[in-house]
Amino acid sequence: MVTPEVERRLVDAAIEMRQRAYAPYSAYRVGAAVFAGDNYPLFVGCNVENASYGLTVCAERNAVAAMIGGGASQVLAIAVATEDGASPCGACRQVLAEFGQQAIVLRVATASGRIVHRHTMAELLPDCFRSHEQ
Ligand code: THU
Repeated sequence: MVTPEVERRLVDAAIEMRQRAYAPYSAYRVGAAVFAGDNYPLFVGCNVENASYGLTVCAERNAVAAMIGGGASQVLAIAVATEDGASPCGACRQVLAEFGQQAIVLRVATASGRIVHRHTMAELLPDCFRSHEQ
């Protein structure tokens, strides 16, 4: 269950991960932390840019990759930390939607250290594309 305590841990982890971002080209740091259930640790990721700009991977997708590698498969909540509380990009929304339409998305502004927006994935990406095999 996504309790206030879980939210607090998520926010702290996302803020911490943001400091590890590799963003020498944009200087825009992003940290993300996923809660996949009480039996799992939080899964974290930061954005990793590349000299070949298009190879950049966002923080959210790196956190999802860590979750899958860690043996979990459902995003119950994710916190995304940026300086200004930005919203996840379209590519990340599609990847997050794969693992939980009901996932709670917390946008955190590190300038204030606060949650500035709270959505569900269904709100962020309604009527998303789903596999025809599911
Ligand atoms: N970025 C993310 O990490 N997540 C998003 O949802 C949007 C953008 C990163 C990619 C790039 O390294 C930097 O932010 C500026 O676009």
